[in-house]
Amino acid sequence: MKLQTLSTLLAGLLLATTVCAQEAQVTIHADQGKYKINKEIYGQFAEHLGSCIYGGLWVGENSPIPNVNGYRTDVVEALKKLQVPVLRWPGGCFADDYHWRDGIGPKNERPTLRNNNWGGTIEDNSFGTHEFLNLCEMLGCEPYISGNVGSGTVQEMAQWVEYMTSEGDTPMARLRRQNGREKPWRVKYFGIGNEAWGCGGNMTPEYYSNEFRRYNTYLRDQPGNRLYRIASGASDYDYNWTRVLMQNIGQRMNALSVHYYTVRDWGRKGKATAFSDDEYLLTLDKCLDVENVIRRHCRIMDETDPQKRIGLMVDEWGTWWDEEPGTIAGHLYQQNSMRDAMVAALMLNIYHKFTDRVRMANIAQMVNVLQAMILTDQKGTGHMVLTPTYHVFEMYKDFQEATHLPLDLRCDSVKASNGHSIPLISATAARAKDGSLVVAMANTSLTKEQTVQVGIEGATAHEVTGKVLTSKRMNDFNDFEHTDVVKPVEFKDARLKNGTLTVKMPVGSIVVLKVK
Ligand code: AHR
Repeated sequence: MKLQTLSTLLAGLLLATTVCAQEAQVTIHADQGKYKINKEIYGQFAEHLGSCIYGGLWVGENSPIPNVNGYRTDVVEALKKLQVPVLRWPGGCFADDYHWRDGIGPKNERPTLRNNNWGGTIEDNSFGTHEFLNLCEMLGCEPYISGNVGSGTVQEMAQWVEYMTSEGDTPMARLRRQNGREKPWRVKYFGIGNEAWGCGGNMTPEYYSNEFRRYNTYLRDQPGNRLYRIASGASDYDYNWTRVLMQNIGQRMNALSVHYYTVRDWGRKGKATAFSDDEYLLTLDKCLDVENVIRRHCRIMDETDPQKRIGLMVDEWGTWWDEEPGTIAGHLYQQNSMRDAMVAALMLNIYHKFTDRVRMANIAQMVNVLQAMILTDQKGTGHMVLTPTYHVFEMYKDFQEATHLPLDLRCDSVKASNGHSIPLISATAARAKDGSLVVAMANTSLTKEQTVQVGIEGATAHEVTGKVLTSKRMNDFNDFEHTDVVKPVEFKDARLKNGTLTVKMPVGSIVVLKVK
C-alpha cells in the first residue's frame, strides 16, 4: 500500500474515532410502556431543621416579609409551579423528638423547646399540624406525616391520626374543632418512625419490626381516610434491614423506605461549589450507585412479594455538602450548583427505571436545607433564589404520572480516579398524560459536546420542542445578587428527520424534549 493511501486511511480512522467518541445512540421503545411514573417520585421533604420551615416556608403573620397567613408568598408561589405531589414532615430525625400536641392551639400557649437534633435551635412550635396540613392544601399536595416511634407513645401517635382525620364526634376531632378546623384533613401517607436504626431509636430490625406491629395496630383508619403505612427502612447499603422487615412485617405495611444521600465520605463531604473535575466525576459515581442499591433492595422484596404490592420509598435523598461558611452549625445550609442539577437529573432518570417498585421519592429538603429547591437569604432580607435543582424539577414536571418507556442507550464513558466509568449520557423517556413523548437526557461530560441520535420505535414524531439547563462551569450557582446564572432556556438543537431525532447536547447539560 502506498504511503499516501495509508496516511489517508489513518487520518480517516482517527476522524471516525473522534466523531464516534462524541456520538451516542438512544432507541426509545414507544410502544412498550407498562408502568406509570408515580407523581410521588417528585416528592419533597421539609423538616424542622435550620431554616427550612422557619424563615424558609413560614415567617409568621406579623413578618415584614410578604406572606399569606404566615407562609412566605414568594416561596409558596415558586413551589406551586413545581406541582409538588407530596410533602414529608416534620422529619427526619426531628420526627422522633416531636410531640404533636406542642404544635396545636393558640400560638402563645405553645411551648418553646430546644431542637436537639439540629444545632440546639429554639423551636417555638408556631408551625404545627394545622400549619403543615394547610400548606399542603395551598400547594395541592398530599401530606406525608412521619410519626414518632423513638420517643413517643402508641397512644400519642394514634390520637394524632384521629385528630387529623376523624370526622365523627370523637375526642380528638372535638379538640381539632376547638382549634378552628371543622373538617378533617385527608392524610394518606403515614410513616411509622424514621431511621429507626439511628436517630429514630437505634433499634435492630427485629426490635423495630415488633414496634411497628404495636404502633400500626392502633393507627385506626377513620371513615373516608385510609392510611398508607410506611415502615422506617434501611440506610442505603443495609440490605439485612430490608430482608428482616419483609419477613416480619411484610403483610402489615404498604411500603418501606430507604435513604440514600450522595455522600462519598461522611468525614469529608466537600464544598458545594468549589470542587475539582475529578470530585465531580466521583460525585456522579456515587449518585449512579443508587441504581445498584435500589436493585438489590428490590430483589430482596421480590423474594417475598413478587406481585410488588409493597412500595419502596426513597423518602430521603440528595447531595450533602459542608455547610456554607458563616451559617449556623447544624442547619445544613448549602449552595446548589450545576453539579447538583446533574445529580438530580441522574437520580430521577434512575427512579423512572424502577416505577414498578419505587412509588415515592422525597428530595432532602425543600427550602434552605441540603439539596434545596429554594434558598432564602439567611440575613432575613427577604430575598430568595431558585436553585439549579429547582429547575430540573420544573423541567421534569411532565414525567409525573406519565408512562415510562424502556430505552436502549449506547454512549461513551469517562473514568473517575477510582477507576469507575461514568457514562457520558443518561436518558429517560415517557408517554405523558397529554399523549406526547417526553425525553430527558443529560450530557455529563465536562469537555465534550455530544450528538445523540434518538430513534423512536413504535410511534411517529412530527414536532419537537425543548429546554436546556447548562452553564459555563459545573461549579456555577445562583445567589441573591445573581439569580439567573443557571436557568433553563429554550433548546434549539434538536432536529427531526424521518422519525429520528438528532440532538446536539452542550457540554454539561440537561435537555428535556417534548415530541409530538
Ligand atoms: O435530612 C437530614 C437528616 O438526614 C434527616 O433528619 C435524617 O432522617 C437523615 O439522617
